[in-house]
Amino acid sequence: MARLKVGVLISGRGSNLQALIDACAAPDFPAEIVLVISNNADAQGLERAHAAGIATKVIDHRSFANREGFDTALDAALRRAGAELICLAGFMRLLTPGFVEWWHDRIINIHPSLLPSFKGLHSHERALAAGVRLTGCTVHVVRAAMDDGPIIVQAAVPVHPDDDAERLAARVLAAEHRAYPLALRLIAEGRVTVEGDVAVVDGPPAEAVLINPPDGGT
Ligand code: GRF
Repeated sequence: MARLKVGVLISGRGSNLQALIDACAAPDFPAEIVLVISNNADAQGLERAHAAGIATKVIDHRSFANREGFDTALDAALRRAGAELICLAGFMRLLTPGFVEWWHDRIINIHPSLLPSFKGLHSHERALAAGVRLTGCTVHVVRAAMDDGPIIVQAAVPVHPDDDAERLAARVLAAEHRAYPLALRLIAEGRVTVEGDVAVVDGPPAEAVLINPPDGGT
């Protein structure tokens, strides 16, 4: 079976990239990473890609006069590499509507909240300020609006009373590292169909209910 060719866009640490690299290392995983692009030459994720023997490219957004120029360079590199799907993994640039249209339904992103709650930056701080009992992460198809688009996979994570943003982020990040490879596998297996604003996944849904605080204590 031909593996789905994936380009991953990063800006920093690259722990989600690492989760995808690790998943793709399994011989039966239906996707492979053909190129990692960073807009930041110092991104730790570039070292992760090098260590895995994956081609990398730095495309610095600051060397372009406008966002269209930057996105055109991204597009050219991804096409040259034969990418069929783009995974955003901590990529801190907004893509232009034109680019999102060129790659319609072929760009996915991971965000550290249960969308549509807490779009944008500092989602953990805002989840704590709102006093939510559950937060989590979302893998979704990218639309032109930030952190918007059909949801493929979500993972719910409890918020603990003594959490600060750092502790909560670490708990959510562990869930991200499971959710992103799962979403990629579902897409690569052809089990995700986008119908308007909703993604339909072919396969059984989860059964468990997660209640926080738990109701078994008293
Ligand atoms: C993750 O929390 C991801 O959800 C968000 O940016 C962070 C990137 O972390 N979009 P990493 O670079 O994958 O470690």
